[in-house]
Amino acid sequence: MSDDADSGAGRLWGGRFEQGPAEAAWQLGVSTEFDRDLWRADLAGSRAHTQELLRIGVLDHDEAESMLEAIDRCAALFAEGRFPFEPTDEDLHGAIERWLVDELGDELGGKLRAGRSRNDQIASDLRLYLREACDRLRQQIGELQQALCAQAATHLDWIAPGYTHLQRGQPVLLSHHLLAYVWMFDRDAGRVVDARNRMDASVLGAGALAGTTLDLDPANYARDLGFGRVAENSMDAVSSRDFAVEFLAAGAILAVHLSRLAEEIVLWSSAEFGFASLADAYSTGSSIMPQKRNPDVAELVRGKAGRVVGDLVALLTVLKGLPLTYDRDLQEDKEPVFDTVRTLELVLPAISGAVGSLTFDRERLEAAAGGGFSLATDLAEELVRRGVPFREAHEVVGRLVRQAEERGGDLDVLDPSEIAAAHRALDRSAADLLDVRDAVERRRASFATASDRVREQLRRAQEAAAANAGH
Ligand code: ARG
Repeated sequence: MSDDADSGAGRLWGGRFEQGPAEAAWQLGVSTEFDRDLWRADLAGSRAHTQELLRIGVLDHDEAESMLEAIDRCAALFAEGRFPFEPTDEDLHGAIERWLVDELGDELGGKLRAGRSRNDQIASDLRLYLREACDRLRQQIGELQQALCAQAATHLDWIAPGYTHLQRGQPVLLSHHLLAYVWMFDRDAGRVVDARNRMDASVLGAGALAGTTLDLDPANYARDLGFGRVAENSMDAVSSRDFAVEFLAAGAILAVHLSRLAEEIVLWSSAEFGFASLADAYSTGSSIMPQKRNPDVAELVRGKAGRVVGDLVALLTVLKGLPLTYDRDLQEDKEPVFDTVRTLELVLPAISGAVGSLTFDRERLEAAAGGGFSLATDLAEELVRRGVPFREAHEVVGRLVRQAEERGGDLDVLDPSEIAAAHRALDRSAADLLDVRDAVERRRASFATASDRVREQLRRAQEAAAANAGH
């Protein structure tokens, strides 16, 4: 806005300026395109502030009532997407004040800003906004956990290969594998809750940075806005954004976990693995290759992790080197935060649906679980039980693996007598160990893959999921 007629008067800070901002300066600073997402929080703050101004006598009863009614009308406009932003609105806070002054007149409209700065206002808004986002996110994480638990329950006894280095290692239950993700997401939900609790401190009344000379009571704002406590230091209150960083960090870790799950779905649904397939509703075709059935949903979930990690890095970088208290750089906190909230809220229902839609191929999973010499450890541990040092047992079984490999098969191509001949501690009965199901059931520690243990684990996982999902 380089409009000559615009001296800057009518803006929030026009008074001491002769000239309005240059167009380029204005374009750099204007934030209404993105900070409008905070309208709900901003108006909640204005309602609380109206009550405080009434209490200290800056507004009388009628004025406060008119103010609250105007704020409600303003909220209705935002809710309907009809709030009339003007090109001269620099940010959401200014736009709302401009609208209230138009609505209530200069005299009353001009009173709302007493004792309040955009510095405490924006810090309060972002906390309120993120607190709600944390609640929604926790619920969506819980619903994903429930989708995983449901698949684990349906396939509780199914055998699957367990991998290290993407090489078959030991057989496990498919349910055990799926439940591993439930616990990863449970910690993610815990981090979201931690972040929520730490940001749950009220900052209104801090004003620009030092508090105000008006008799505003921070505790009243906290009560009105449902904050758990009041921040301890007004300078910290207006300048800190670690609450947002913490949220973004929790979001980035979550996004990385989602990406790992998505990658497994991509692998499982390939012809090479053939372990699972996604329902039509979660698959896509190719524009040129008629045969294709692509896991785009999982790939997009994997791809979205990049921007969420980027959001975290962006905000950390903004904060680094900022002197106290408010600096305009802090305006750059909003887009990363909104982007992460939006992205995760897109991704979570999609991956939950995709997980719920997976159908697994029992034969392929079981065949893969038995291959790759996945019972070699069992044989070595049997030697240990028979008094052989593990180093020696490892060697002995390694030789048996080579012998079987030369014959082009797994350990079960060997005759029981050949196994018995491999070490004096072995006999023909050792060949009986070479059964995948038994191998799974032999692993009986509380967190291991034996079916009883997984059944108990599933119960705990379902409880954790329900606590997050709220149902
Ligand atoms: N739009 C600003 C932000 O998002 C609001 C605070 C502006 N404060 C100021 N002193 N310029 O950070």
